Amino acid sequence: MSQTAVPVIAIDGPTASGKGTVAQRVADSLGFHYLDSGSLYRLTALAALRQGIDLANAPDLARVATNMQIDFQGGKTLLDGCDVGDEIRTELASQNASLVAALPMVRDALLTLQRDFRVAPGLVADGRDMGSVVFPDATLKVYLTATAEARAVRRTKQLKEKGMSAIMDDVVKELRARDERDMNRPVAPLKHYPDAYLIDTTEISADQAVKKILGLAQKSVGS
Ligand code: C5P
Repeated sequence: MSQTAVPVIAIDGPTASGKGTVAQRVADSLGFHYLDSGSLYRLTALAALRQGIDLANAPDLARVATNMQIDFQGGKTLLDGCDVGDEIRTELASQNASLVAALPMVRDALLTLQRDFRVAPGLVADGRDMGSVVFPDATLKVYLTATAEARAVRRTKQLKEKGMSAIMDDVVKELRARDERDMNRPVAPLKHYPDAYLIDTTEISADQAVKKILGLAQKSVGS
């Protein structure tokens, strides 16, 4: 099967809309591969900071994005062979990821890496520009969202479950700052494009969102 014939389900949306959980479950149900594209921006920022590179230095950041040694194994996220799964999930790491993600050179540097995840029998990819830039020919495009309040509650819960301190007011502020940057940057802004199905998860569970996407996938992917 040629790479472009491999089906892709693109799931985009703002922070803590449930994308990660939902996309992973959809991938598991279909036996597809899974790409968490946000982790690549998180890893780029972390790898750069470890090398003492300023997060505004676009050429050096692009070099780091191209050369970083990363691996995803058994649910772990490895940078230079070490598990950095928790380190890349802090609020600081989230803001740093959003800063480097606004740089076109960094986005370009990560393009091939992301497209290489498109392997048979299929891929579920989550992020901000999966349907618009990385996989514009995706078989199915979904825009997953929820109110800022519902997302802040979820994000706070997630952070606490990981043993990280999280104050709701701070989480709301950080979430809004990240939304603002992701939605208003000139390159690959987060946006609901008309070719993506809108699913609002404010009032529905992750399981219900998964079911909806699997229903849509049955029609478009034929699974
Ligand atoms: O999805 P996640 O919250 O892990 O993404 C972290 C940050 O990476 C986002 O706030 C966004 O700035 C950036 N990102 C992006 N494009 C993607 C995925 C993530 O710009 N496809």
